[in-house]
Amino acid sequence: TKKAVLGPLVGAVDQGTSSTRFLVFNSKTAELLSHHQVEIKQEFPREGWVEQDPKEILQSVYECIEKTCEKLGQLNIDISNIKAIGVSNQRETTVVWDKFTGEPLYNAVVWLDLRTQSTVENLSKRIPGNNNFVKSKTGLPLSTYFSAVKLRWLLDNVRKVQKAVEENRALFGTIDSWLIWSLTGGVNGGVHCTDVTNASRTMLFNIHSLEWDKELCEFFGIPMEILPSVRSSSEIYGLMKAGALEGVPISGCLGDQSAALVGQMCFQDGQAKNTYGTGCFLLCNTGHKCVFSEHGLLTTVAYKLGRDKPAYYALEGSVAIAGAVIRWLRDNLGIIKTSEEIEKLAKEVGTSYGCYFVPAFSGLYAPYWEPSARGIICGLTQFTNKCHIAFAALEAVCFQTREILDAMNRDCGIPLSHLQVDGGMTSNKILMQLQADILYIPVVKPSMPETTALGAAMAAGAAEGVGVWSLEPEDLSAVTMERFEPQINAEESEIRYSTWKKAVMKSMGWVT
Ligand code: G3P
Repeated sequence: TKKAVLGPLVGAVDQGTSSTRFLVFNSKTAELLSHHQVEIKQEFPREGWVEQDPKEILQSVYECIEKTCEKLGQLNIDISNIKAIGVSNQRETTVVWDKFTGEPLYNAVVWLDLRTQSTVENLSKRIPGNNNFVKSKTGLPLSTYFSAVKLRWLLDNVRKVQKAVEENRALFGTIDSWLIWSLTGGVNGGVHCTDVTNASRTMLFNIHSLEWDKELCEFFGIPMEILPSVRSSSEIYGLMKAGALEGVPISGCLGDQSAALVGQMCFQDGQAKNTYGTGCFLLCNTGHKCVFSEHGLLTTVAYKLGRDKPAYYALEGSVAIAGAVIRWLRDNLGIIKTSEEIEKLAKEVGTSYGCYFVPAFSGLYAPYWEPSARGIICGLTQFTNKCHIAFAALEAVCFQTREILDAMNRDCGIPLSHLQVDGGMTSNKILMQLQADILYIPVVKPSMPETTALGAAMAAGAAEGVGVWSLEPEDLSAVTMERFEPQINAEESEIRYSTWKKAVMKSMGWVT
């Protein structure tokens, strides 16, 4: 017997850097009914290089969908109630594939990858006009972080990619495009598209006109015919072509940080959220205005929830390494066996005992944008043990957030009174308390940390032709909030923060 219908359900793929998830929500309450998660391999073929296998990523999505549907079956929930699917994804990661065979022509070059450092240096010498050429159109600094330079590298170095472009067989996409093309049929009529939020991370997209920019494509030497069509974040792109959810429309698509902004209902000018994933990303909604930062933040498209709806913009502080430092302690140093163990180690000591850990594994992103930085652990004594290092790793995540929050407050003029947070790491209570202590403002987290997936589900459910999610607060009745207040004194908080800054200075200039 099937359980009584709970209301229309909406599924969401959350394809992050570390793992893939599929989650199913009740659109009337935002209750998470079931989910499945699969960890994704990262390959480091050379120092500074980070790659992933696009086929493994796709496979993981199918696996998560199938397993979640099985779990729903065990709960007696009829999967025919799933009315739409949203996709949210790690941004910037670059894939090129063959449109006739469906085969990727190289591994996905992950956003963290640093191989394009010399490409960036060469390009920066020949920026046309003033130095603002790239930033004024895209909101982004010329950096290894964004897709255009990764694609340039593939065109320069991978014969298969060059040949496929010459023979008009190549398609480019960020992970959302690769997934949507594959899930809607691939070689049999797959839809080659992206949404404005993902497009805004390529460095090829004009965030004012919301179109691919011809001058930027010429500057980076990118053939425009391999680019996907750009759509809004909430509309029907196509139907699932196979699997348990065959025929269900894919109708939401957002870069994961934008999805979290939507999932936190930050729809008003000045509302902000910070998501702790592999990296850590603080986004503040600036409404219909593109605000350009004076303090190292990016300007990005926040969302556009419908074909005829206006685009909203955000200021973004991007931190490359947050959860990734925990994975590093697990996989590279082996001082923990599971990521959750970090909390136990940190709790044992309750202090870093003067140890500071700057995890600048991929250089430093906001607010420094310093590719020459490398990770350091300093302030060590014979007393220091793995618990202190674990604590310092958590503190590093909080200090990096403080740096971007300070930059945000300076750019916006009105300091944030509290910080809304989400993401896997927010279930770590020590981290949340530390964050409140270091920011010296309250930190507010939802009971259900999967806000990214929720945002993608909301966008999918609200799309024209689906219409099962109204985006009103009452549709989130299942989500409750937990608050962490600062508990140390302000002076202590400042002293720790200024010592952190000293450590950051020491991490710079390691590579020239
Ligand atoms: O810009 C990169 C970002 O989208 C990655 O997100 O969740 O994998 O840290 P995450």
